[in-house]
Amino acid sequence: MKRKILINKNIAEDAVQLLKKEYNVVQVESLNPQDPKLVQELKDTYGIIGSDIKITEELLNVAPLLKAVSTVSVGFDSLNVPELTKRGILATNTPDVLTETTADAVFGLLLAAARRISELDRYVKEGHWTNRIPESLFGVNVHGKTLGITGMGRIGKAIAKRANKGFGMKIIYHNRSRDPEAEAAYDAEYSSLDGLLKKSDFVCAMTPLTPETYRMFGKEEFRAMKRSAVFVNGSRGSVVNEHALYEALKNKEIHAAGLDVFEKEPVDHDSPMLQLDNVITLPHIGSATLETRRAMAMLAAENILKSLAEEAPPNLLNPEAVGKAFGHP
Ligand code: 8YV
Repeated sequence: MKRKILINKNIAEDAVQLLKKEYNVVQVESLNPQDPKLVQELKDTYGIIGSDIKITEELLNVAPLLKAVSTVSVGFDSLNVPELTKRGILATNTPDVLTETTADAVFGLLLAAARRISELDRYVKEGHWTNRIPESLFGVNVHGKTLGITGMGRIGKAIAKRANKGFGMKIIYHNRSRDPEAEAAYDAEYSSLDGLLKKSDFVCAMTPLTPETYRMFGKEEFRAMKRSAVFVNGSRGSVVNEHALYEALKNKEIHAAGLDVFEKEPVDHDSPMLQLDNVITLPHIGSATLETRRAMAMLAAENILKSLAEEAPPNLLNPEAVGKAFGHP
């Protein structure tokens, strides 16, 4: 009899078909361990794959046979990796295949916020364009300005490349450690967070969400930015104190923001943030192109197939779990 894998939310059909060759695949819409139907499914589940996989101790306690968790994302803040490791369960993610796509989306947000693209799109479609547009609707330049990036990982660097090579921007970055390669390639200057906030015309949050980066952008940080600054968040909503961002935008302490991510997703429809003209929003689509989501799903499928076959998966997050997972001492 085929062993069971749960897929959380939709993933590309090719990946589903690949998994079905060897496993009994069951699709679920959420991983809420309070749901009795899910608890029943988890009793004989060997692997979980999908997006928005929230792995908690409560869930693990009702999944005694679980051997592998494969998230269709590069971010793995929703997986309790130390707990998975303790239980000998392999955890994998999907880096690299989404780097350039996500950098495109984040840079698009930056351009759209600076040039007020969605606001002006509405202006045209709603029939307000009857004469030359007033200065009050003008945007700000992007080319030649200073871009501060917090989190100079793979996606941060792909954004730096676009900004520096394509738009002649000066790059400042803040990261856990210096990156001499990025400094040489994109003429990037390492800075303290405070220095970056003070000097940047555009501040782009690309840091992964960890206990250290939780709400790293708050009232003080927005106050430290230039009044003309544009803030872009392409990482996780919770690296920002959303209320502080709202206040900063409303009181014009910063000029504008572009947000692909929110503290709560989907964002509440009546969130005051959505009332502001100087905020441009996206529904967490950084990696959401057909090609890239397919590549992510195929990579995640390969990760889970290898993990369950007791072979090293390409993107293992917890190599320390291998001994226990593969039954080695
Ligand atoms: C995911 C993302 O696709 O990869 C990430 O970390 O944020 C997105 O690309 C999204 O989280 C859905 O899984």
